[in-house]
Amino acid sequence: MSTILRLDCSPAGAAAQSARAADLLVDRLLLGAPATTVRRRELGVAPPPWADMAFVCGMFAVGQPGAADLSGIAVSEALIGELEATDVLVIATPMHNFTVPAPLKAWIDQVVRIGRTFRSTPQGKVGLLRDRPAHVVVACGGYLGPPPRQPDFLSPYLRHVLATIGIHDVRFHMLEGLGRGDAAREAAMTGFREAIAAIGA
Ligand SMILES: Cc1cc2nc3c(=O)[nH]c(=O)nc-3n(C[C@H](O)[C@H](O)[C@H](O)COP(=O)(O)O)c2cc1C
Repeated sequence: MSTILRLDCSPAGAAAQSARAADLLVDRLLLGAPATTVRRRELGVAPPPWADMAFVCGMFAVGQPGAADLSGIAVSEALIGELEATDVLVIATPMHNFTVPAPLKAWIDQVVRIGRTFRSTPQGKVGLLRDRPAHVVVACGGYLGPPPRQPDFLSPYLRHVLATIGIHDVRFHMLEGLGRGDAAREAAMTGFREAIAAIGA
């Protein structure tokens, strides 16, 4: 049986635009594999801890001789284990100030860990997780593109972060103009439905 890990990153929880879109996407994924287990983590409502001093100490204590205190990376281990156990990753997130919202950044800092999910080599960072499909649903209030539209620092950043840990098969679904009225919002949702129509067919 396969597993979907769904990360919801909006403070609006189940009422979020990104969550609405992710509901449709997960339904499509389940059409092709109805026995799939969906595991959901509401990062936007219950964010992981920041990478604080206990985390930093734990991160560098791994592999050191003696009785190392690894309690600061317990959450990190749990979140990485969850990711390792998943076959398809779904991230539903709003764009906040041109990039990922703080709860998603906190998750990234817990999960992208040297010596655990990537290693550093003279050729650059190499991911240690197996590749798997990832879908990222991004809800934007405005429109993206060259000026006068806004820049998108979210998708190139998140693509790079996921590749760093070994996840390269990433598909972004950008929903734009969600803050520009009902017609713009419904147009974005219609475009999204069309874009995912082939999934699970
Ligand atoms: C703190 C904050 C920052 C935001 N920054 C942006 C932004 O940079 N670009 C944009 O298009 N929308 C921005 N928005 C609008 C949200 O992306 C938009 O309302 C989106 O639909 C929210 O998705 P959600 O319902 O899934 O949370 C911002 C909203 C908040 C609360």
